[in-house]
Amino acid sequence: MSLFKNFRLPVFFIGFIFSGVALGGELQGPKLGVPVEAGTLSGWDISIGPDGRGLPDGEGDSRSGFTVFTERCLRCHGQRGAGGLGLADPLVGGIGSLATDEPLKTVGSYWPYATTIFDYIRRAMPYDAPASLTNSEVYAVTAYILAQNGIIGEVDAINAVTLPMVRMPNRDGFVMFWPEEDRK
Ligand code: HEC
Repeated sequence: MSLFKNFRLPVFFIGFIFSGVALGGELQGPKLGVPVEAGTLSGWDISIGPDGRGLPDGEGDSRSGFTVFTERCLRCHGQRGAGGLGLADPLVGGIGSLATDEPLKTVGSYWPYATTIFDYIRRAMPYDAPASLTNSEVYAVTAYILAQNGIIGEVDAINAVTLPMVRMPNRDGFVMFWPEEDRK
């Protein structure tokens, strides 16, 4: 301890002198990467939460979604999204099955919000070509999956206004772990 005590003063002065040199010269940062501009982030900042805030322009219905589904999704998710190919989860069916001995978890039976279907498909699907759909194609194929599950009608237009209004069958199937007064 006494060693530390003896050395404290000289060490302080040496540090002080070096900081003076640094300040006298050009102030330099650690040069770790480049500054992040708002524009750089916006391409990544595409999260849509349950309330649907930030949903983009565009629109689609189940009929236009059928085309998108057939061309871009069917080969993995099967006819009408029913799965069965061993390549990806079924997206359709299982509504009401979760509390039975043979629960079938699909977007229709399990997911609590329709808005996050849009979010998920836009960022992650098709699995081998994520983010390659236009916003209207994502709305359309979301509508197709919802309609195949019987949650919306075949001709219901899905867009930034209507999608948050869709009530999913399992909306109340999740137990909240934080107090109601803290929820927005
Ligand atoms: C190349 C195969 C492939 C294609 C094509 C594909 N998917 Fe998927 N999809 C998957 C796989 C694999 C998963 C599971 C991913 C995981 O769990 O990380 C998945 C998961 C999903 C889920 C979430 C399912 C759940 O219950 O969690 C949705 C929704 C979905 N896909 C929609 C689509 C749509 C819409 C398209 C067409 C635009 C599409 N997928 C095209 C392979 C594919």
